Amino acid sequence: MARSRTTWRCQQCGYGAPKWLGRCPDCGEFGSFVEESAPAGVSGAGSADARPRAVTRLADVVTEDGQRILTGIAEFDRVLGDGLVRGSVVLIGGEPGIGKSTLLLQAAGRLGDSGVPVLYVCGEESLQQVRSRADRIGAKDGVALLPEVDVTAVEATVLAERPGVVIVDSVQTLFDPALDGVPGSVGQVRATAARLVRLAKTHDVTLIVVGHVTKDGTIAGPRVLEHVVDTVLYFEGDADHAFRIVRAAKNRFGSVSEIGIFEMTGTGLAEVGQPSGLLLAQRARGVAGSAVMATMEGSRPLLVEVQALVSPSYLPAPRRLSVGVDSSRLLQVLAVLERRAGIALGSYDVYVSVVGGIRVAEPAVDLPLALALASSKTDRPLPDGCVSFGEVGLTGDVRAVPHTDARVREARRMGLERAIVPDPQGRALPDGAIPVSTLSEAIGNVCGTDR
Ligand code: TYD
Ligand code: MG
Repeated sequence: MARSRTTWRCQQCGYGAPKWLGRCPDCGEFGSFVEESAPAGVSGAGSADARPRAVTRLADVVTEDGQRILTGIAEFDRVLGDGLVRGSVVLIGGEPGIGKSTLLLQAAGRLGDSGVPVLYVCGEESLQQVRSRADRIGAKDGVALLPEVDVTAVEATVLAERPGVVIVDSVQTLFDPALDGVPGSVGQVRATAARLVRLAKTHDVTLIVVGHVTKDGTIAGPRVLEHVVDTVLYFEGDADHAFRIVRAAKNRFGSVSEIGIFEMTGTGLAEVGQPSGLLLAQRARGVAGSAVMATMEGSRPLLVEVQALVSPSYLPAPRRLSVGVDSSRLLQVLAVLERRAGIALGSYDVYVSVVGGIRVAEPAVDLPLALALASSKTDRPLPDGCVSFGEVGLTGDVRAVPHTDARVREARRMGLERAIVPDPQGRALPDGAIPVSTLSEAIGNVCGTDR
């Protein structure tokens, strides 16, 4: 077979060159050249065949909904949107060592147990390494391993074996022999991923592809692939915490607001179905600067502890440090506390943190954050059993956020009866919820009025 020609193409302007160039002579961009392959014998791009093609009426298209393959790991199935859709391609991104291979081997074991044959393409680890991990997590039969990095061989094996699900770990180790670039380069990752996607779509193969990302997300991998796959999941969490969160960044077959919560244990990833209890377990009661927030992760309420420490500053520009909360939210809450609630923290260092390595991105964190800060400043603990949520506006008003009922219910389930919630403007509130319409009112309610 004739070897394909390859070209290097500038990703900014499309300029083609026979070899890699550091700077594009056409548009002047640096480092923008990516290798591309053109099949041998084809000159120029585009098709010369001008015959009209058959079109399909939208109403005549048969949908394949309902053909879902459940992995048997409920937290994983939830993020996928109720299992894997047949013939779809799922990309799982995450930093090295976060637990991608562990999760997928566990899923492979479960799928194998339920009679879905799985082909696990292990380009990163030897068969022995995969086996010893499988022994740890208890994955057993029904999983076939393929230690291969050549994408052509992977395609051929998939077509010969016809497994129910193919797992490729990882896309950075695969290479297309038609291209010169090293495995893991942008050109190789794109080309191999495109071939895998084509394989999945033309032969109805269900594919899960692993891709590594580093903290800044710049390394070739998931970011350049997001648009070619059906579903993109990111594995988050840091090595210092046991919690691992799988979050959907894109899902053609489900919601992107769902998350799956796992805990890394000595025997693989354990599902955390009721995370609130775990997150609040170590909470010290009766300590100033701690507030419990009811946040939403997808459709599920989750209770987390927001901590604040306010301490006199000896610096010309006092410190403001935040972990798990957006730092601009903190600055805004500090300004509102000073101007609208009379709590001035300009000469104090301020540290805030959400416990357990959780990140809270929703505006509803404003109220618990403000209460934790006020509590730390006044050195008065919030009352036992107090939980809060609500967005704080620049005028010091507390604004409603969605899912009030679910949040209050979760708090009651965990034994927190005193819920400080935004005034629902005439709508009914669940039992035990205390409506507040301004930040001062909320602080007066939980910290007492004299400051
Ligand atoms: P791994 O799945 O290899 O990460 P990735 O494929 O994302 O690079 O996970 C590796 C980490 O998980 C490693 O630090 C060891 C730890 N681990 C456990 O703590 N318990 C286990 O049962 C397993 C299999 C791994
Ligand atoms: Mg791995």
